[in-house]
Amino acid sequence: MLDRRQFLGIMLMSTSALAQAERPLMLPPPQTTGTATLMQALRARRSTREFSSKPLPREVLSTLLWSAFGVNRPESGGRTAPSAHNWQEIDVFVAMADGTYRYDARDHALRLAVAADLRAATGLQDFVGTAPLNLVYVADFARMPDASAEDRTYFASADAGFIAQNVYLYCAAAGLACVVRGWVDRRKLAPALGLRVDQRIVLAQTVGYGR
Ligand SMILES: Cc1cc2nc3c(=O)[nH]c(=O)nc-3n(C[C@H](O)[C@H](O)[C@H](O)COP(=O)(O)O)c2cc1C
Repeated sequence: MLDRRQFLGIMLMSTSALAQAERPLMLPPPQTTGTATLMQALRARRSTREFSSKPLPREVLSTLLWSAFGVNRPESGGRTAPSAHNWQEIDVFVAMADGTYRYDARDHALRLAVAADLRAATGLQDFVGTAPLNLVYVADFARMPDASAEDRTYFASADAGFIAQNVYLYCAAAGLACVVRGWVDRRKLAPALGLRVDQRIVLAQTVGYGR
């Protein structure tokens, strides 16, 4: 049984976590002009598995997330990556040292998902725990109501792949290192992220500065 002090402590903690969850972390506007050409980015795109722990500036994070799956047509809510039926079923979770967030593309903001550093839990390779950023692509099957179980898996995998490629190309253009990862312990990571059973982890992607 909890005593009164412990009970009050838990209530206070959950109230402050709730307040943080409700208050989004607004990102600065993405920088959508003046980087490398598409051809230069395609020439430089590659997977890298050595990362420094240097954090990414907020401006870089902003442009990276917008490139990944931001809103590029505000009038229709269209996004930088296509999605089957325009379901937009992939949520981008953002695991950093100061917490784990969900990217809210419409508000171009980060919403707190878990007030903990979950970087090490996003994969089974040694660099994931120290690189500054791991993205986790989570398909929300609840947004794919008319698809068969098989199509949900195919479409969500393809849709996450487009986002991952956008990240690869932005990283190549911005001189960042990244690698997309399927080697993830999904059974462990899903509860850590607080996912429902119909939210499925498709891929993860580590981003940072190369070493
Ligand atoms: C679906 C998918 C899953 C991948 N999973 C991993 C992974 O878990 N760990 C890893 O280090 N690389 C992973 N990769 C990266 C590939 O190993 C890499 O793309 C391939 O070796 C080609 O190298 P390149 O990207 O530099 O051209 C994955 C790539 C894809 C497309």
